[in-house]
Amino acid sequence: MTDQIKELIKAAKERAVKETDSEPEPALTSAVDWPVDCKVGLGLEGAVACETTIGYVNGSKGWLIYRGLDCFELSEFSTFEETSYLLIFGKLPTQKELDEFKAKLGKYRVLTQEEWDAVNALPLGKGHPMSDLRSAVSVLGLLDPTSEDTSVEAETEVAIKLIAKLPVITGIVARTRHGEKPLQANPDLSLAADLVRMMSGNEPTEEDARVMDVCLILHADHGMNASTFTSMVVNSSLSDMYSSIVAGIGSLKGPLHGGANEAVLKTLEEIGSPDNVDAWYKKAREQKRKVMGFGHRVYKAYDPRARVLHPLAELLSKRDPKIQSLYEIAVKLESAVISELGKEKKIFPNVDFYSGIVYAAMKIETEMFTPIFAVSRVAGWTARVLEYLKKNRIFRPRGIYVGPAREEYVPIDKRG
Ligand code: SDX
Repeated sequence: MTDQIKELIKAAKERAVKETDSEPEPALTSAVDWPVDCKVGLGLEGAVACETTIGYVNGSKGWLIYRGLDCFELSEFSTFEETSYLLIFGKLPTQKELDEFKAKLGKYRVLTQEEWDAVNALPLGKGHPMSDLRSAVSVLGLLDPTSEDTSVEAETEVAIKLIAKLPVITGIVARTRHGEKPLQANPDLSLAADLVRMMSGNEPTEEDARVMDVCLILHADHGMNASTFTSMVVNSSLSDMYSSIVAGIGSLKGPLHGGANEAVLKTLEEIGSPDNVDAWYKKAREQKRKVMGFGHRVYKAYDPRARVLHPLAELLSKRDPKIQSLYEIAVKLESAVISELGKEKKIFPNVDFYSGIVYAAMKIETEMFTPIFAVSRVAGWTARVLEYLKKNRIFRPRGIYVGPAREEYVPIDKRG
């Protein structure tokens, strides 16, 4: 079954190369000679915040690379543990390095009794699971005696702890919200397989474990996205890694960012049937509604991650007629959007459009989609926080003041 997944990913890459007639440029840019000129739009569009060797998003062609390796090859051949090592340490690990890294992740995945009790004592399940995740990471920081050590070495160790512990917290959150007994980690399983197990309570099939691994690889890093930038801004004041990641979780929660995968499923369920797509889309356009799962600040081409997730969604949707119908609605909606907005505004499916169908086929609850995104993205958040910390400068952009020039102070009894 995993060979079939490999073949689907290989075919996705071939399609991408054919449709974009190339792979990402080899020499992207050399070191930056600061200060640089850049044309900045609202929301820092186009602004250059830093230089990085961690990842590159080619928006015009729709390519994504981590440390020079493209997301298709990493999805086909790598694992989330290996990809996390690549992002944090800058190179693919040797077998010995990978074994040691996985053993450390496994050790940290088993929460201490103190961590277990503190996380389970939180009022989980009352709000959104991303708020539960945010609160639990904050509690882990309170319990970590190294949390105030902001050296690169100490923050690197915290990064590994967070990559290890986020899946456990996600499992606790997923089960507690339905009154199910939370499960401790099983370090003998891969992180992806254990994440599925800790959420569902069952050992995943080989197919589910591999598909989840590919999803975690694909979501791990993505340039200066809002949540990564948020984490970097917090750490740039020499705050601490826990505070930075709590902030990143808060940013990812929003429906314009990581929360879009949950919103996509709700859209597909709202449409209800492939026959309703055209009418729904027409009404959405009249109401100037954003179609969730489409569009991107950087990609003005098909998101390469969606290229991989689309065939995986098709493969897994065959398990359940209800999910199959969601998939058929998605395909029809994609064609409606691409035929108009794709042409007019270069709006294409992004990573969130098909990921939800994959997770729904695994019987994962919609509200848990964004926490899964965070389980993966914590690798990119921490890698970029650590990279920037090495040549730190506090982030402090400007706002253009357009308010009144000079106002007299009016005593309160003279005000209207
Ligand atoms: C992620 O940055 C990253 O890399 C993020 C991410 C990552 O891995 O970290 O890739 C993950 O967040 C993916 C995006 C998930 N969000 C959604 O799917 C929500 C729907 N998408 C839109 O909200 C929007 O496309 C954004 C937020 C993703 C990008 O917004 P921008 O760059 O600020 O674009 P914009 O809102 O200024 O839109 C430009 C035009 C507007 O039309 P006009 O006012 O010029 O006429 O495009 C239109 C928008 O109305 N538009 C859409 C649309 N997205 C943009 N119209 C309909 N549906 C959409 N989805």
